[in-house]
Amino acid sequence: MSLHHGVSVSERQRQAPGLISYLGPADLEAQFRRDALEGLSAVHKSIPSKWFYDYTGSMLFDEITRLPEYYLTRSERQILSRRAATIVQLTRAEAMVELGCGLSEKTRVLLDAFRRRGNLKRFLPFDVDSEVLKMAATELLDRYPDLEVQGIVGDFERHLSAIDVPERSLVIFLGSTIGNLNPLQRNALLTELSGSLKPGDCLLLGVDLIKEVELIKAAYNDSAGISAAFNLNMLNVLNTRLGGNIDVDAFTHIARFNPQTEQMEMFLRSARPQRARLEAIDLDVEFARGEQIHTEISAKFRKQGIEAELRDASLEPRRWWTDKDQYFALSLSVRI
Ligand code: AVJ
Repeated sequence: MSLHHGVSVSERQRQAPGLISYLGPADLEAQFRRDALEGLSAVHKSIPSKWFYDYTGSMLFDEITRLPEYYLTRSERQILSRRAATIVQLTRAEAMVELGCGLSEKTRVLLDAFRRRGNLKRFLPFDVDSEVLKMAATELLDRYPDLEVQGIVGDFERHLSAIDVPERSLVIFLGSTIGNLNPLQRNALLTELSGSLKPGDCLLLGVDLIKEVELIKAAYNDSAGISAAFNLNMLNVLNTRLGGNIDVDAFTHIARFNPQTEQMEMFLRSARPQRARLEAIDLDVEFARGEQIHTEISAKFRKQGIEAELRDASLEPRRWWTDKDQYFALSLSVRI
């Protein structure tokens, strides 16, 4: 069994039953501070999108998934429901690892299918947020008493190679969360993931597809204003965690489609000049009128492109499934 930060697995498990942690609250806080300091000191200000997900952020995202304009979740669920039995048959997985699981209820569609006919013994949800993981793990243990649930607290951009992926694993990475990474980051993630898999292990990847631009834009500019609230909540996260006084009301939500890179790009725009202080990182930051903080990209994919990215990481695409509208796709690939 591997050791990390000199703490044995059993010791770590004692701290929080059923959780292995590669990322303690102190590491997380330090990383957040570095990201905030670097991102807000730069000429083009930015904050990595992973920091959206405090409790409020997770709840707002959950609301987003139910919006009429946000087709991604519904489309993906449609594919999963239709293909779950086939996924069980094709992968014959004994362990399932979920990256960035959040509060995913889509996972249950798969777990139900594995329970009906599969041989799944273990489920390993992997997320940066230990609270979200505990909630998810508790719920799952209730519903699947025979399943061994082992939550892993970590950052999938940093700790993938550290996790012990069991034999005959299926890794699932749903929701098009991979779209939050740029091409270099995606390559790093897929390569690292592939390196921790054994030949024959599988990856089920959810990707949002290129489609009519108005449909994509609407998913990030909903009429109820939840996407705006989700984006603006990043400023509350900064204020709360860093003792800041950024005037959130002075910012507006911007989400636009970049046709060159084929990705949505999200920004927070300061409607007026302002100066703010973030006490915890000893930073005074100025915003010019109209200045933007870049908060997120959400890449949209084509079959050819994402399959080439998978192959670059020794993951051989085997199946490609879409919903009836061809809005979204699930790709099943195998580690060769
Ligand atoms: C959770 C990353 C898939 O990019 O569509 C939703 C996050 N951001 N609305 C996405 C998000 C704004 C979402 N992912």
